[in-house]
Amino acid sequence: MGIGIEKIGFYTPNKVLYLEDLAQARHVDPNKFRVGIGQDEMSVSDGSQDCVSMAINATLDYLSDADRAKVGLLILGTESGVDQSKSASLFVKSALKLPNNLRTFEVKEACFGLTAGVAIAHDYIQTHPEKTAIVIGSDLARYGLKTPGEPTQGAGSISLMISNHPRLIQFEPGHASYSEDIDDFWRPDDQLFPLVSGKYSTESYLKFFKKTFQAYKDSCGLNTSDFKAICYHLPFTKMGFKANEIACDHQPAAIQERLRTNFTLSAKYTRRVGNIYTGSLWLSFLSLVKNGTFELDDRIGFFSYGSGAVAEFFSAKVCPDYQNALLTSKHLAKLMNRQRLTVPEYERLFNLPLMSSKEMSLTSDEASGFWYFAGCHQQIRQYRQI
Ligand code: HMG
Repeated sequence: MGIGIEKIGFYTPNKVLYLEDLAQARHVDPNKFRVGIGQDEMSVSDGSQDCVSMAINATLDYLSDADRAKVGLLILGTESGVDQSKSASLFVKSALKLPNNLRTFEVKEACFGLTAGVAIAHDYIQTHPEKTAIVIGSDLARYGLKTPGEPTQGAGSISLMISNHPRLIQFEPGHASYSEDIDDFWRPDDQLFPLVSGKYSTESYLKFFKKTFQAYKDSCGLNTSDFKAICYHLPFTKMGFKANEIACDHQPAAIQERLRTNFTLSAKYTRRVGNIYTGSLWLSFLSLVKNGTFELDDRIGFFSYGSGAVAEFFSAKVCPDYQNALLTSKHLAKLMNRQRLTVPEYERLFNLPLMSSKEMSLTSDEASGFWYFAGCHQQIRQYRQI
């Protein structure tokens, strides 16, 4: 067996804003959000969920005592970090009761962070085949009220266990990378929200897709028809739709239909959760394998994009019993059990301070078992379980 994903966990906060409500409040045609942007809903954090608590909750989906004993590497990719020095992964390690003799750190390159962690984990497992690696992407995507980016916000986390006993997908050798120092989306230290050049960011995304997809096919001797599906980083689903149309260009009708059908299936969860930055590509993968039908060794392509900007294309093959490794009912429950917010309720939550200096006993109305951010005690962040 090669190296791949053995387990996948997902978490999104328990509050949701319907974009039809947002459209009405902002005096925008709802079809602009539903069709033009390709989004129906977005998850909203009430301040009790941050990148750390969401990462803990996503990993607890699957973590067993046997897993705890085997973990040698824990990486957290995020652009919603809680400290300039200390890695958010240390809070996660502590809550998950992982052993002290593991390597752990945080990585950052916008939405590319989780994919960067996966690449590091892949190399780690090659040299430590008896170990596993947990790699998490966890983010609050926030652009600000009444901004063009507002309907593309979201919140959530994806946790991947990488090992040489994959049950979902096995990575194939090779990848195509492309990077340029550009200013399409960035968040300086003194800014609460990112600065975005919206149109430029979408053009850059498509340019980077063209470059990496072609380079990957060339370097691996593959054709577009060799892919059963392609998963994309989905800041909003129309973005991935446009890239997928580039992939479909000049393909026979049957290949176009297959790629389009699978794209729609991969976009289902993002339509309801919104952008989760680092975890977004992997949320589209989760949506694809939950909603699609695959056979052993079907090839899935992956396009990862992080503003700034870095992109990578790579691929993986589907494992035989992948369906039994999916925690579908747990994941669907998190989507179904969200409380629908009114726009004024969403705006009030949005304006709450992200870094509460006060310790809070219980700030979350999550179901029991979930972890939450409980404010600070002596300037140290506190995480508690309900
Ligand atoms: P906008 O300027 O308000 O929207 O913001 P628009 O006017 O361009 O309209 C969007 C689409 O809706 C257009 O379709 C319209 O025609 C259509 P398109 O031309 O694109 O095919 N439309 C309608 N459709 C149906 N019925 C209607 C209607 N009206 C209009 N009535 C923008 C759009 C994406 C710029 C904004 O939401 C934004 O700035 N978002 C944040 C930036 C972003 O997500 N960029 C994506 C690429 S960068 C990336 O992926 C990295 C990122 O995840 C960060 C990271 O790496 O960390 C963002």
